[in-house]
Amino acid sequence: MIALGADHGGYQLKEAIKKHFDQKGISYKDFGTHSEKSVDYPQFAIAVAKSIKAGECTEGILCCGTGVGIGIAANKIPGIRAAVVGDCFTAQATKEHNNSNIICLGGRVVGEGLALMIVDTWLNATFIGGHHQNRIDQVAEIEQEWAKL
Ligand code: RB5
Repeated sequence: MIALGADHGGYQLKEAIKKHFDQKGISYKDFGTHSEKSVDYPQFAIAVAKSIKAGECTEGILCCGTGVGIGIAANKIPGIRAAVVGDCFTAQATKEHNNSNIICLGGRVVGEGLALMIVDTWLNATFIGGHHQNRIDQVAEIEQEWAKL
């Protein structure tokens, strides 16, 4: 199950991703927002991140105007590795190397065609582990150290 979330800047793109998933038979849960009315992105980032932490969803896709704000918010949750992606090379690399569990897309940055290609590339890629796992472990250690402060 893929978790989806967006603010008003990413709403249209989230809807396009839902239509794409409907056509491909990919299951998803939509955490909002549900219109183009102006909203604050952190709540949607956190709802998607929590669903992944809880095991309800396996991965998430967040959309805002740039993908940046909603990604910053999602990355505040320990264990979340949210990557802002605007090209297919990065989409593949961030799954293979970073084991990203969320990608963040800019509804005002990428066109729908590229965004859907990025989504497919990321979902079809696989984490390759090895020395990349060591680096992810180091990031997790940093999270734990700073959580104590
Ligand atoms: C909303 O206007 C916009 O700031 C937001 O969608 C996002 O781009 C923030 O990073």
